[in-house]
Amino acid sequence: MIGFGIIGCGVIADFHANAIAELAGEARLVGVCDVMFDAAEKFAGRHGTVAFKTEDELLACPDVAAVCICTPSGYHAASVIKAAAAGKHIVCEKPLAINASQLAQVESCCRAAGITVSVISQNRYAKSIKKVKRAVDEGLLGKIVCADIYMKYHRSQEYYDSGSWRGTKRIDGGGALMNQGIHGVDLLLYLAGEVKSVYALSKTLVRSIEVEDTLSAVVEYKSGATGIIQATTSVYPGYPRRLELNGDKGTVILDETSIVRWDLETAANEEDVILLPAFTSGASTPTAISNDGHVQQIADFIACIKTGAQPLSGLADGKKAVEVILAIYRSAQERRPIDL
Ligand SMILES: NC(=O)c1ccc[n+]([C@@H]2O[C@H](COP(=O)([O-])OP(=O)(O)OC[C@H]3O[C@@H](n4cnc5c(N)ncnc54)[C@H](O)[C@@H]3O)[C@@H](O)[C@H]2O)c1
Repeated sequence: MIGFGIIGCGVIADFHANAIAELAGEARLVGVCDVMFDAAEKFAGRHGTVAFKTEDELLACPDVAAVCICTPSGYHAASVIKAAAAGKHIVCEKPLAINASQLAQVESCCRAAGITVSVISQNRYAKSIKKVKRAVDEGLLGKIVCADIYMKYHRSQEYYDSGSWRGTKRIDGGGALMNQGIHGVDLLLYLAGEVKSVYALSKTLVRSIEVEDTLSAVVEYKSGATGIIQATTSVYPGYPRRLELNGDKGTVILDETSIVRWDLETAANEEDVILLPAFTSGASTPTAISNDGHVQQIADFIACIKTGAQPLSGLADGKKAVEVILAIYRSAQERRPIDL
């Protein structure tokens, strides 16, 4: 039984607490903390657990073997570093960190501590994504030619105004791409492999925020494949993120985690693949996402603590996704292609 603590008791923390409750045979929520103690108390009441006064108090509790870091993005690194120093295993919400120096510190502290780290990218755990990954690895799509995401979401001005950190460079670390688009970027890295270079255009067209609400990038993968990464939070009404993988022997297209096209040259055109259960989409409403991904990711994390294996979305994966995003931002700022 792994004892969990949750740091940060806002919107996403409920998904972690609910996932821990679903994994009751293997996990239990020991306690929570938040810089706003009343938020921690309310949250603890709702989930039948204890509110610690501070993060240090939570980390000092010997019953807490693992923590879920659910604070605003720019604060993840500080909590990861503290938790690693305390020897706790870590589930960190995406993004792992928001700049290169945070990434470097987080990586060295976690490696030195020898702990298990899982960076939330819950869509990797969908049955449909696993199916697509197997098809790519088995060569069923042939040579990958294009690997794209088109994320046309809607986040209202009220959404950005609902937290002082949202839409800020210093704490959100970026806009449509760093906050929402990172899920698609991670899936592209998982399915199409590492990125060699990016060339991007970034704009703030509609929302009153410091960071981009609309961005388009051209990508070259190390494999030689090409791609498009498009991320906006400013279109009405918002559509499921489309992920397209085209190879010289087959194409797979997904709306979020629903496979909508499965067109292979080989005999592997299974009719039922389209019917694989998918997670619900946050295209128009952030809280509309399904809890299943968090349940499966935390179950994988617990198994990895026990076996010493690497989580399906681990430290290196969380770092790579942010590195691609930072390169895209730099490209847009300097108006030139950037090699990773
Ligand atoms: N995986 C997903 O699909 C998904 C969805 C939503 C949010 N997120 C991520 O989760 C994180 C939190 O987002 P949210 O929407 O829950 O934000 P939120 O503003 O609703 O909640 C953040 C909470 O953290 C608390 N907090 C701030 N600094 C703290 C600190 N140093 N120590 C302890 N508590 C602190 C705040 O008081 C607040 O209660 C973000 O990084 C976001 O990117 C992920």
